[in-house]
Amino acid sequence: MSKLLILNWKMNPATLEEALFLAMESDYKDVVVAPPFPFIEEVGKILKKAELGAQDLFWEDKGAFTGEVSAKELKSIGVKYVIIGHSERRHKLGETDEMIAKKLKAAADNGLIPVLCVGETKAEKDAVKKEAVIKRQLEKGLSLIGQKSKVKSQMLLIAYEPVWAIGTGDPETPESALKTINYIKKLLKTTDKSLQIKVLYGGSVNSQNLGDYLKYKEVEGALVGGASLKKEEVQKMVKLI
Ligand code: 13P
Repeated sequence: MSKLLILNWKMNPATLEEALFLAMESDYKDVVVAPPFPFIEEVGKILKKAELGAQDLFWEDKGAFTGEVSAKELKSIGVKYVIIGHSERRHKLGETDEMIAKKLKAAADNGLIPVLCVGETKAEKDAVKKEAVIKRQLEKGLSLIGQKSKVKSQMLLIAYEPVWAIGTGDPETPESALKTINYIKKLLKTTDKSLQIKVLYGGSVNSQNLGDYLKYKEVEGALVGGASLKKEEVQKMVKLI
């Protein structure tokens, strides 16, 4: 079974022209391209094989929420996936588990596939709190979907991204990532059975190390930041999924 490669461009590139070029070079099956908001619609028009993703959303449908973007708005321009609770939003922008839960429900209610990011900081890892942190992030993040909520989304993705491994060139070892992903899968056993759940790894993934993660059947894809901005890297990574 093919695995999923989610390309999180973060706040890159700086211009629409560069974004369209990168999109053209990333247009492969089983790839999700998540550009910055201003470029999403135009990138969506270019993609023929890859799917369109967003990097965030707001939980209300419409109204007086300056600067925010709703699930309905994203859906109306062809977005299929949305990253929620990325560590850069949690740790640099003060996003809480409660906010993340509302975003996740909004995405799922509107038929977008949520990509919920979880992962521990270096301090939490050193204090042997990794499992507790992930458990909390999962339980709270998923607290508003489930049995009672009418979830339109058929699928839920969890990205395990240790904060200390993001953008550092110091990835979690594949063996340890596998262990944590198995822990996540165990925790998710009681989640609504109608939801198809996949767990991905993210954090300093590139074309050199991607295969070491994907060789495990339990690692169902990767969420890639820095390497997603280099067309040569993308083309090499696509061959591994
Ligand atoms: P890097 O691949 O640059 O470490 O970023 C990972 C990430 O945050 C993807 O969401």
